[in-house]
Amino acid sequence: MCGIIGINSNKPVSSTIVNSLKKLEYRGYDSAGIATLSSGLINEVKSEGRVDNLEKNSLVQNMEGTIGIGHVRWATHGSPNSINAHPHSSQNVSVVHNGIIENSTLLKKFLVNKGHKFKSQTDTEVIVHLISEHLKTDNIVNSIKKTLKSLHGSFALGIIFKDQPDLIVGARRGSPLAVGYGPNENYLGSDSYALKSMTNKITYLNDGEFCIIKKDHVEFFNEDGIKINKKVLELSSTEEKYDKGDYKHFMAKEIEEQPITLKNGINEYVDKSNNDINIYNFPWKINEISSLTLIGCGTAYHSCLMAKYWLEELTSLDVSVDIASEFRYRKNRFKKDSLYVFVSQSGETADTYAALDLCKQNNMKTCAVVNVIESSIARDSEFVLPIHCGTEIGVASTKAFLGQILILYILSLKIGLWRKDINKETFSKKLKDLKELPKMVEKTLLTDNKIQSISGTFNEAKGSMFLGRGFSYPIALEGALKLKELSYVHAEGYPAGEMKHGPLALIEEGMPVVVLAPRDNYYKKTISNMQEVIARGAKVLLITNKSKDEIVSENIWEKIEVESTNADLLPFLLTIPLQKLAYYSALKKGYDIDKPRNLAKSVTVE
Ligand code: F6R
Repeated sequence: MCGIIGINSNKPVSSTIVNSLKKLEYRGYDSAGIATLSSGLINEVKSEGRVDNLEKNSLVQNMEGTIGIGHVRWATHGSPNSINAHPHSSQNVSVVHNGIIENSTLLKKFLVNKGHKFKSQTDTEVIVHLISEHLKTDNIVNSIKKTLKSLHGSFALGIIFKDQPDLIVGARRGSPLAVGYGPNENYLGSDSYALKSMTNKITYLNDGEFCIIKKDHVEFFNEDGIKINKKVLELSSTEEKYDKGDYKHFMAKEIEEQPITLKNGINEYVDKSNNDINIYNFPWKINEISSLTLIGCGTAYHSCLMAKYWLEELTSLDVSVDIASEFRYRKNRFKKDSLYVFVSQSGETADTYAALDLCKQNNMKTCAVVNVIESSIARDSEFVLPIHCGTEIGVASTKAFLGQILILYILSLKIGLWRKDINKETFSKKLKDLKELPKMVEKTLLTDNKIQSISGTFNEAKGSMFLGRGFSYPIALEGALKLKELSYVHAEGYPAGEMKHGPLALIEEGMPVVVLAPRDNYYKKTISNMQEVIARGAKVLLITNKSKDEIVSENIWEKIEVESTNADLLPFLLTIPLQKLAYYSALKKGYDIDKPRNLAKSVTVE
C-alpha cells in the first residue's frame, strides 16, 4: 500500500511533508520517512511506527531543504523497522515507492555483481541502485525510462537526485499517483486527498507514464520517454473536516453517522415526490443486460454477496459474485450482455482495479460503486454510483458498508422495476419502507449497554462463530470479519445450514456463537440450527428483530432485538450490533481501533 508525497518549493518543505504524511497514514502505518535536498546533500530521516514518531524526531524538526519526498509504509518486503522504512537512498538518488517489484531478487543479484551495496531487505532498494547505475552513462529521462522498463510488478515512485536540486521525478505503473500544482511550488502525491490542503489542481498519471516536477512547471513523458501533454483537473476545493468530535475513535463516530449515510444515499437516488428511483445517465438499455457480476474485496465483497441475494429476489438476472483477487487470474467467460459492478470504498484497491481493467480489456460494461469519486476505479469505470458517506477514516469499514449495500439495494429495486420483474405496487411498498430505514437504524444504534457487557466473552474465548442464512449470511461474514480485524480473535462466519457438514465439530462448552435469525423466510430453519449449537454447549447470542411472537427456544445466552421492517432491509439493522460488538471487544483489549495491526485503509498492492 504505502503513501507517497513530494514537494518542490522555494520554502522549506519538511513540516508540510510530515503533515501530508499524516493524511496518508490510512495507506500504511508501519513506519515513516522523509528525505530532502540541502547544501548539495540528500538528508534522510526515518522512524518505526506512526508519523507522530517521525514528527517528534529532532532531526526532522531541524531539517532544511526546499525539495523533498516522504513516505508512510505498509510492509511487503522486510519487517517494519526504520532500516526498511522509505526513502531508500544511495549517495546520489533517493526513492519512495508504493507497490511491489516482482523481479527484485534477480535485479539485486545483477546490481550486487556490479558492486552496489544494499542496506535493507526491501524490493525498493533495487530501484535506487538501478537509477544510480544508469545515471553513470545517461541523462535523467533515459535513466528513468531504462529503469522503469526493467522493473516487473507495480509501482508509484517519487525520486530526488543529489545533482539535480531543482526537480522531483514521479512514475507510475499499477499504483496510483497524482501531480498537484501550487503557487511557485508543485507536488506529487499518492492521491488528491493528501494534496487537497495545498491545491485542487491535479493531474493523474496513467500507467507507464512518468513526470519531472519543477517549482514552476511539470513535464510528462510516456514509457518511451517521449514528452506528452496531460490535462489539469480542477477538483472541488472544499476540504472536509476530520475530527473525532466527542468520540474516542473515528470508528465509533462512523458507526453513529450511519443514519446520515443512508439519508444522503436516499436523497441522492430516491425521487420522493414521484415515488421513484433516479439513476441518471445509466448508459445501457436494460434489455442489453441479462447477467450481472459483482466484484470486490473484504467488506466490499460482503456487500457484493448481499446484493446477490437482493438481485435474485427482485430481478430475474443471473447474478454472480467474485473476490477480485480470484477473478483477476481465473479463466473468465466474458459475456457480452453482462454488467460488471465493482464495489470499493477507496476506489484504489489493487485487485479490484485489476479486475476492472481486465473487464475493460474484454469490452465489458463496467459500473463502480465507490466512496472516493476521484479514485482510479471511479475514473476508469464507464458508470459510477457514488456512496456519499463522506471520508471513512477508521480502517475497519462501517458506514461505507452500509452505504454500499444501500446503493446496491437501490440498484436492485430499480433494475427489478425496469425489467418488470417486480410490479409498481411492490416497488412503491419497498420504497416506502426504505425511506424509513435511517430512523430504524437510529433506533437500533441505541442498543448499546448489553453489547458492551457481553463483548468481553468474545475476547476470552478461543474463537467464535457467526451464523446466518439467506439475507443474514453476508452479514454473518461481515460480523466475523469486523471482530477478527479489530480484536485479533478468531471468528468465523458460516451459513447456519452448513454447520453440520463439518464446523459443528468446533463447538464446545462455552464457545460464543452469534446467530442472526430475523423473522424472515429463513427464521425457523435458523432457529433449528441454533438449537443444534446450543445442544453442544455453545453460548448463543441471538440477534433478531422485535416481534410479538415469542421465540420458542431455551438456553439462549443473550438476545438482542433490532427494529422491525421488511425482510429486505433487516440486514442493515443486523449489522449495527455486530459493528458495536467488534468495537467494544477491541476497546476492552485496549487495541488501536482506528488502525488495527498489519492493516491499511487502502490496499494498493495485490
Ligand atoms: C474491512 C475492510 C476491508 C476493505 C477491503 C476493500 O473492514 O475495510 O476488508 O473492505 O480492503 O477495500 P475497498 O472497499 O477500499 O476496496
